[in-house]
Order: sequence, then structure tokens, then C-alpha cells
Amino acid sequence: MNRRSFLKRSIGSLLALIGIGGGTYYYARDIEPRMLQVQNVKIMDASIPASFNNFKVVQFSDTHIGFHYSVEQLQKLVIRINEENPDLIVFTGDLVDKPHLYTWNNDLINVLQSLKAPRGKFWIYGNHDHGGYGTEKVRDVMEASGFTLLQNEHSVIEQNNERIILSGIDDVMLGSPNLRQALENVNPDLFTILLAHEPDFVDVAVDYSVNVQLSGHSHGGQVRLPFIGHLYTPKYAEKYVEGKYLLNDGNLQLFVNRGIGTTRLPYRFLCKPELHVYTLHKE
Ligand SMILES: [Fe+2]
Repeated sequence: MNRRSFLKRSIGSLLALIGIGGGTYYYARDIEPRMLQVQNVKIMDASIPASFNNFKVVQFSDTHIGFHYSVEQLQKLVIRINEENPDLIVFTGDLVDKPHLYTWNNDLINVLQSLKAPRGKFWIYGNHDHGGYGTEKVRDVMEASGFTLLQNEHSVIEQNNERIILSGIDDVMLGSPNLRQALENVNPDLFTILLAHEPDFVDVAVDYSVNVQLSGHSHGGQVRLPFIGHLYTPKYAEKYVEGKYLLNDGNLQLFVNRGIGTTRLPYRFLCKPELHVYTLHKE
């Protein structure tokens, strides 16, 4: 642990001990986790084809259903996503918190099925999906819900004879990510979006023909303190924590989504749940 993170943790623990009274605790446990922030983001890139101008992609991530996030809450989120009339919907992993303890039933499938996107619904594995023997179960549920898995593969999205690429890798922590395989036979001149659960993977993606990486996993830290920021993020979300980052002289844009649910601790403080609504624009 470096000096900066040591200081952060020490100050954070101190504040937690002396400063967080009952009101703040109640807010962080019962109020802020239910406050959805919708981020409208313009993605500009010269390689976006003209017919994809105003093409709308909604990303949701890290629902962690079963841990302080219910299917009923997901139902409300689905209504909110459908209100955006997205062309494409992507889910970047961690559907339920603990697949082996979750009581699986058709309610979850019915809710996810009701998400509407004419150009498709796609998803990738997160560490919680592979964890707890969830690999097959989560895959079956997502498939029954009309989502296409991108596990080291890509899909060509076509419109008026113009194309963009949507690719996805397997989870970095518990799967076998292979970006080379995911982009096999892809024309590197085509605008390419990569779904990767862990944001720090962008340091690998930077060597490939990827224009945009969409990630989750970090939860933005879940708890952020004024002047200090986040106290903790999981492995592979230590470098890129939330929001937008530019790499490779701006040729690769990374967006890290703070996610919907919580894990480990049921709190969010100065770190609201987040939905990303991206609109593509030819530069
Ligand atoms: Fe997560």
C-alpha cells in the first residue's frame, strides 16, 4: 500500500469512527443507494459512420441482485431504461451478488426480457457471475432474457450498409479474457466498442483497434469522502475508478460506470448508482 492510499484509509476510518452519525448512516444505507443518476454522454469519433449519428446505447452494470437490490427495483430500472428508447442495450456484468445463494426464478427473466432495444441486447461476464458457480446459471438466465453473450467475441452492428463493431471479453478476474480472439477478422478501421467488466483492462486494450471501452466493477468505490474521494476499489479497478478517461492521445475513450447495486457493504455515499446513456456522433 502506498503512502497516499494508506493516508486515505486512515483518514477514512477516522472519519467513519467519529464523524458518521446516525443521519449520515441512514442516508448512505437507505437513501443514496436508491438515487439513480442518468449520465448522458456524447461519444465523438471520426470512425463513427454517418448513419450511426445519434445512435443510442444504454449501459447498465453491477446490479448485484440479492444483496440489497431486488427484482422489484430492477423492474423500475427497466422502465427507466426503456424510456430512453435505446437502439442498443449493454450489461457489463455482475447480475446477482452470490449466484449459489440466490433463489432463482422466472421473475428475473421476465423483467430482463421486457428491456427493449431494436438493435440488440448484449452482455459480458463479471467476476460475480463466474463466482459462486454462476457461469452456466447466469448465462442461461441472460440467454432466456434475450441477451447475447460476448465472451471473447464480437458482433457486427449494421445500418444502411455501414458497420460498427461491438466486442466483449470474458471476465478478467475469474475468466479467460482474450481480446485478440474477440477482435479476430475485425477490420481495424471500423469504429469498435469493447465491453470489459474490469476497467484497468484498458491498459491491454490500448494496444488493439478499440475506440471505446465500457466497464463497471469499480462501483466508483461506493463510499466517497469530500476532499479524499474513494477509499477502496476492487482489484482491476484501482487505476480507473469512475467517469471518462482518455488514452492513446484521445484515440481510446474509457467510460467506467459506477453500477447499480452494492456489494460487501450496503452503502453508497457521494457515489450514486448510475446509468450511462451514450449517443454516437461522427466527429
Ligand atoms: Fe460489481
